[in-house]
Amino acid sequence: MIEIHNIHKAFDGKKVLDGVSGVFETGKTNLLLGASGTGKSVLLKCIVGLIKPDLGSVTFDGTYFTNNKLDIRQEIRRKIGMLFQGSALFDSMTVEQNVEFPLKMLTDMNKEERMDRVNFCLKRVGLEGANKKMPSEISGGMKKRVGIARAIAPHCTYLFCDEPNSGLDPQTAMKIDELIKEITEEYNITTIIVTHDMNSVIEIGDKIMFLYEGKKLWEGTRDEIMDTDIHELNEFIFANRLMRDAKKVEDEEREEEEERRHNGQVASQGKEKAPSEETVETRDEPQPENPDGPAATTQSGNDKV
Ligand SMILES: Nc1ncnc2c1ncn2[C@@H]1O[C@H](COP(=O)(O)OP(=O)(O)O)[C@@H](O)[C@H]1O
Ligand SMILES: [Mg+2]
Repeated sequence: MIEIHNIHKAFDGKKVLDGVSGVFETGKTNLLLGASGTGKSVLLKCIVGLIKPDLGSVTFDGTYFTNNKLDIRQEIRRKIGMLFQGSALFDSMTVEQNVEFPLKMLTDMNKEERMDRVNFCLKRVGLEGANKKMPSEISGGMKKRVGIARAIAPHCTYLFCDEPNSGLDPQTAMKIDELIKEITEEYNITTIIVTHDMNSVIEIGDKIMFLYEGKKLWEGTRDEIMDTDIHELNEFIFANRLMRDAKKVEDEEREEEEERRHNGQVASQGKEKAPSEETVETRDEPQPENPDGPAATTQSGNDKV
């Protein structure tokens, strides 16, 4: 779990972050959502220590990071994996060398151990056998996958992704989102994703923090985001016609459901159940669906883009 408390940051007197606090949960994809220029990347950099906040603190699983001793900060940094915007692969290195790089820098694994880990991570992101390819020879989606493999290679506990699906077509973007979510759950990582993409919100928004002009205006889940009365958030979400239509359908469905429930209640009023009927009903209760079941995991994990 990562906690941030009252983060402030200004550049040349211009306030960019204005007292942001919040919690990012373990094993979940936590989104930092907001329009361009609203301070998302600056906040992410404050959290990982690439920018020092003017005020405020960050803790990683209860350990203070921001103003702590160098060795403690370095210890936490070793557990951080970062997927940069545009992947930021080393162009002169092969895919394999890119993923091996942090293992050389951060661990004392020997060559054989490093190669085992590289192959494991490449397989996990669906890039088995792409070891000797150069970044210039692979697609944008594959580059993101290499970036993810490189980020998780040193067994990261915290994963940060800045606009992981920018520049990708919608289908590839969704696969990258799904891969990040699967990896987060599989290895119980605390993941923070910067995005302005409503598709990501709908697909993987376990927990969402909405930033507006350097302030946190709202936080909640993807199930709650369509029904807030935060004006700035609604303007952001429903700028898109598709989202307006989706909201309309959702409202209509809810009304129908309420009507059905109401009618059901009216119909059952006064009706007394026999004890045996009660037992059967309990046993036959539908189980909650699991949308992230093994079938979904296997499919997108092996699907190359
Ligand atoms: N290193 C910097 N120096 C000065 N201004 C910066 C720096 N980094 C970001 N900013 C400014 O902070 C604001 C927020 O930027 P950013 O966090 O990158 O926005 P976004 O929400 O699009 O990620 C922008 O106005 C940007 O110009
Ligand atoms: Mg940004």
